[in-house]
Amino acid sequence: MAVTERLFFDPSDPEFIADPYPTLNRLRESVRVFYDEGWERWFVTRHEDVRSCLRDKRLGRNFRHVLSPEEIGVPPLDSRWEAFWQSERWSLLWLEPPDHTRIRKLVASAFTPRSVEALREPARELARELLEPLAEAGRMELLYDYAQPYSIAVICRMLGVPLDRHRDLLDWSHRMVKMYEFDVPDEAAERANRAAEEFQEYVRGLIRERRAYPRDDMVTALVEARVEGGRLSDDEIISTVIVLLNAGHEASVNTLGNGMLAFARHPEQWARVVGGEVPAAGAGEEMIRFDPPLQLFERWVLADGFEIGGVPIPRGAKIAMLFGAANRDPRVFERPDEFDVGRENAAQHIGFGGGIHVCIGAPLARVELEASVDALCRYWPDFELAEEPRRTGAFVIWGLEGLKVRRTCPGTVPGHVGSGQ
Ligand code: HEM
Repeated sequence: MAVTERLFFDPSDPEFIADPYPTLNRLRESVRVFYDEGWERWFVTRHEDVRSCLRDKRLGRNFRHVLSPEEIGVPPLDSRWEAFWQSERWSLLWLEPPDHTRIRKLVASAFTPRSVEALREPARELARELLEPLAEAGRMELLYDYAQPYSIAVICRMLGVPLDRHRDLLDWSHRMVKMYEFDVPDEAAERANRAAEEFQEYVRGLIRERRAYPRDDMVTALVEARVEGGRLSDDEIISTVIVLLNAGHEASVNTLGNGMLAFARHPEQWARVVGGEVPAAGAGEEMIRFDPPLQLFERWVLADGFEIGGVPIPRGAKIAMLFGAANRDPRVFERPDEFDVGRENAAQHIGFGGGIHVCIGAPLARVELEASVDALCRYWPDFELAEEPRRTGAFVIWGLEGLKVRRTCPGTVPGHVGSGQ
């Protein structure tokens, strides 16, 4: 059944943001797909449909390689935000084959199981180094004090980007990802555009340095790579580095924030991980399923004849896949609204996407998450909320403003050691 009512849900409504799941559940159980005239999108709600949309070659993250904006009635890109579009132009998340295949192949060669495995021990060490002194203090703001510096350090290490500008990298990234929300105000777009300009300038400098003094890192690999007889252009390298830095920490940070909030609300689940009954890796999958850091991804319909559950969706239409609704689909997950770290099929969540755009950083994200949960078990076995956290207000990039926690037994020597110690 297709429904064309205005606003089935309003992602900017504070009540929705406070707890989107009752609404997402209601939508999923009433319709497989619906068109919202206000948002001019088709929303897909169920696990099976989201999964197959992600893999369907008739859908694309972009349409410009096969259709013109005029053909499908889409306004051209706003030329005021030229620098932002320039960053997107060669991003994996903007491209479709054959350009996507060419650049993805290169990046994938850096995310081999071996290269990710090589980061496992440094990722563990770094988690311990950051969390131990914080545990002695007995209080922390988990995102600012731990998750952000941690995650940016891991991805910077892989890319070979020096850490001295890590607060700038975070700031540029936060401003740029606002462009992925619905209804972006001019002021936010202006800030994103300026961030893109500064970020590009910074990466341009890095490229110059690595050309002059090559190192054993990914920026050097991108500079030296030969693809189909040629080299990557500077613009292609810049977009690639920016998407890896931005995608490489925003979702990881929000997974940790959302997941540790779930643990704070379900201390009996935290006790299962701290006590060693459930390994940190398994808990990480349930953290992503239960409250995914990315709630919505979009696709354009590029071909005629596309339909979902018998509902025809025209060429040129935009589809929005609701990950949070799909991850709580009772057709796949028993008692889906329960946070159960021992859930056997938690890894069937669609939090990392699927198809040609499936998260290329997923193996690294899993290493980071496991190392963090293990170190948190060790140094913060007795944590509780120090303050009720607030959501950022954004829906697509789903996270908290911050997460203030404290230890309930400060001064005690942290005891248990999680699975990876
Ligand atoms: C828990 C953490 C993470 C989650 C939940 C996540 C989720 C996702 C999802 C859902 C997509 C697919 C988007 C789509 O289909 O439209 C994606 C793509 C991507 N992710 Fe991740 N991600 C995470 C961590 C990372 C990390 C650590 C990196 C980099 C080191 C990374 C780099 C990327 C890139 C480059 C893409 C684009 C791939 C392409 O379009 O071919 N992600 N991610």
